[in-house]
Amino acid sequence: MSSQLLIVDDERLIRWSLEQTLAKAGYEVSSASTGEAALAAIREDPPDLILLDLKLPDTDGLQVLRQIKELSPHLQVLIMTAYADVGTAVEAMKLGAYDYLPKPIDFENLAVTIRNALEASQLKRKVQLLSEKHLYPFHFDRIVGTSRGIREVIAVARKVARSEATTVLIQGESGTGKDLLAKAIHYESARAEEPFMEIACTAMPETLLESELFGHERGAFTDAKTQKKGLFEVAHGGTIFLDEIGDMSGGLQAKLLRILEERSFRRVGGTKDITVDVRVIAASNRDLRQAVDSGTFRKDLYYRLQVVTITLPPLRDRREDIPLLARHFLGYFSREFKKRLPHLSSEAERLLVQYEWPGNVRELRNVIERAMILEDTGDLLPGHLPPEIGGLAPSAVLPAPAFRLPETGVVLEEVEREFVRQALALTRGNQTRAARLLGLTRDELRYRVKKFGLNHKSEEDAE
Ligand SMILES: Nc1ncnc2c1ncn2[C@@H]1O[C@H](COP(=O)(O)OP(=O)(O)OP(=O)(O)O)[C@@H](O)[C@H]1O
Ligand SMILES: [Mg+2]
Repeated sequence: MSSQLLIVDDERLIRWSLEQTLAKAGYEVSSASTGEAALAAIREDPPDLILLDLKLPDTDGLQVLRQIKELSPHLQVLIMTAYADVGTAVEAMKLGAYDYLPKPIDFENLAVTIRNALEASQLKRKVQLLSEKHLYPFHFDRIVGTSRGIREVIAVARKVARSEATTVLIQGESGTGKDLLAKAIHYESARAEEPFMEIACTAMPETLLESELFGHERGAFTDAKTQKKGLFEVAHGGTIFLDEIGDMSGGLQAKLLRILEERSFRRVGGTKDITVDVRVIAASNRDLRQAVDSGTFRKDLYYRLQVVTITLPPLRDRREDIPLLARHFLGYFSREFKKRLPHLSSEAERLLVQYEWPGNVRELRNVIERAMILEDTGDLLPGHLPPEIGGLAPSAVLPAPAFRLPETGVVLEEVEREFVRQALALTRGNQTRAARLLGLTRDELRYRVKKFGLNHKSEEDAE
């Protein structure tokens, strides 16, 4: 697609010659003779680049430039003016013009300037897209759920994000969304442009964790060949997320407390106090109160951390979020797998809502991912769910030894009868759903029900 240019000049001859030249160069060109007309054209269909004469009959060109930038801050503008007026040009550049073309226009130069300006604006847009992509997934509106529990969590977290609070504790069982919430708090705070650093306190031995967090001086220990900054220094201005804080050793707990209280620390092997401005978000899936009682977690650190505590409720305590989350992940995986979005059958939905979810949202996500791999008829059925959730054994979904023909043979009609019976039992007599489970139409199922004399007391077929 060719780039669109808009020429704004009151002199007809100049408009005409520019139009001719630039159209020949492959651009889509339109023009306006007044500032007013230019702004109208931009509102109607914003071009990629504007060539703007600073001396216009109706308004001051600088004023038009200002309005253009208000309307569309990323629009590239090249200024043209007959006066060798450096002062105005400087003013225009300050207002965000890309470059300055003195009149009479040097047409050879023009092509190069336009190409550069367009490239610069594409690059800018790319960078902007990238940074949006980078930030977008972690906003509060990405946290799915309408239950009271999750709404309260988000409301508090929003306040915390905007506040000056420098320590936040997030508690909640595994898979309830602690990571997600920590990132949302960071990316919706005034610290969003600064680093978000994350570390799990379980994942490594104490001395390593210590130098990761606080950095070390050269020669602090055998492997310390160079000086290294720790996460607290790197995260300056931003947020550090200490996951599994309950697993932190006693020695490090004391150092952490010092940072929280004095905002300063020393690198391993260092003598200089380093002061940082970092928000600490700590998370734990164990009850820290209990860890304090059993003596594995410092009481003073606990009190320091729990000033702002957010507790994510387990999924089984907010069951109304389950269908929403299930559909959210169906959408996600259908995009991921480039597969048509399946319909979540009411039977499968009911099973999902009933289940206890010991692994919380993460487990639900995994269950939906698995189901999306198995389903291929456009309907997500109980048979696509794992047995513990009440779906059929996997053998019913995938051809498996359970279905091997016995050497003594079978009567096929009896197998069929048995499966029809089971499908009706599983759907409590709902023939539409039973038919779906067997890959039959409702009429085909009805025919078999009659043939096998399986007049199950059925609930009213809702669908
Ligand atoms: N409310 C939610 N909306 C959308 N996705 C969610 C929600 N809660 C959790 N998730 C997703 O579920 C998965 C698990 O969440 P997360 O990693 O944040 O849990 P966690 O509490 O940190 O678990 P752990 O204690 O095991 O570290 C992630 O893929 C996350 O994106
Ligand atoms: Mg986590």
